[in-house]
Amino acid sequence: MWRNPATPFLFKKAFPQQKNPLTYQNIAEAIAAFERTLVTTDRFDDFLKGNLEALTEVEAKGLKLFIDYGCITCHSGRLLGGEMYQKLGIYHPYENQKDIGRAAVTKNKAEKYFFKVPSLRNVALTAPYFHDGAVKTLEEAVEKMAWLQLGKKLKEEEVQAITAFLKTLNGKRFQ
Ligand code: HEC
Repeated sequence: MWRNPATPFLFKKAFPQQKNPLTYQNIAEAIAAFERTLVTTDRFDDFLKGNLEALTEVEAKGLKLFIDYGCITCHSGRLLGGEMYQKLGIYHPYENQKDIGRAAVTKNKAEKYFFKVPSLRNVALTAPYFHDGAVKTLEEAVEKMAWLQLGKKLKEEEVQAITAFLKTLNGKRFQ
């Protein structure tokens, strides 16, 4: 019944006082505890709140490029993403064409190669990247995004600056 055979054991550990800890009440508690860990605050939040010193010069330059090049058209809002589906490969096709993305579910041809635009909060901590995990480093992901989605070949220092900015999205709790 439990996909993960460790589940009953982990519930015993989490609720040691209880005889039969695998209850719906405890499942709700456990999910809520997990969800609380998803609340993330980072240096970019400090910057947004008005502390202009929260970002270094390179990180601020990366943020400017992120805005000026149009990464924010898709990676939008407070989570820098998570708000829409978009085609992967707008200017240049993605190498791996096997997964047609959302179209496989909706049967809508117009959504071929559409994937959820992921939030970039904590992105530096969650390699590998893209839906197939084929992109190993954050630098490579940034470079590829610019090429595939915006038709731009970034200079090495631009890749470094944008990557430096994305690292300011690392939640403080993980430091
Ligand atoms: C047209 C929309 C669009 C634009 C513009 C765009 N992205 Fe993305 N981005 C996406 C989508 C969709 C994905 C998910 C791709 C996948 O899952 O295969 C993604 C994934 C990523 C990832 C990998 C996240 C992960 O967890 O796998 C990074 C990093 C990223 N984008 C950064 C950028 C940067 C930096 C720019 C600007 C240079 C940019 N993106 C511009 C739509 C966009």
